[in-house]
Amino acid sequence: MIKPNLRVVVLISGSGSNLQALIDAQIPNLDLAAVISNEPHAFGLERAQRAGIATAVLSHRNYSDRASYDADLQRLIDQYAPNLVVLAGFMRILTATLVEHYRGRMLNIHPSLLPKFQGLHTHERALAAREQEHGASVHFVTAELDGGPVIAQVRVPVLPNDDADILAARVLAREHQLYPTVVQWFTEQRLALGADGRAWLDGAPLLHPQILM
Ligand code: GAR
Repeated sequence: MIKPNLRVVVLISGSGSNLQALIDAQIPNLDLAAVISNEPHAFGLERAQRAGIATAVLSHRNYSDRASYDADLQRLIDQYAPNLVVLAGFMRILTATLVEHYRGRMLNIHPSLLPKFQGLHTHERALAAREQEHGASVHFVTAELDGGPVIAQVRVPVLPNDDADILAARVLAREHQLYPTVVQWFTEQRLALGADGRAWLDGAPLLHPQILM
């Protein structure tokens, strides 16, 4: 029996290098249905167009409140009938209504070893805290900002002469391995958000994030 493709919508705000990693990974049975950006000049839109993926822009600047933006965003996403929504550098806080609508089918990548350093400026904060290790996490999105159950992480060392840019680049290179791996688990139906609020992999709840080597 031929398996139907899993339809994925990717949300971006900027460079889209994680989007590029998903394109390059050529994950079997995965259909990148659309890329949506809140920023009209996001370079990731060009990456999508080059790969022949549909693109759409919904600028938050035309909205006075978050609820009406997110209502339109949800309508736009749903036009592509996704099985999975992938936040890849989408730099907006989402309303609980939108997040609930995509419960169990929305992933985010965050540049820290969650639960450490939720929010912005994670690399600067890791340096200021004199962390010896830093990294990135992929998690299911829940209403709590950067607080949903973590599925998998990559770790990198913090080196003596690092500044935030050097550290960010080291983390980003590993993000490009992390996100396609987790998205592939989802397409293979190995991954789900359980009713217990935990991430489940291969039929068992994850008590700790998977660490990718
Ligand atoms: C990535 O480092 C991602 O983890 C981060 O934005 C960058 C996007 O890069 N996301 C967040 O900070 C979300 N809170 P990209 O556009 O090149 O994929």
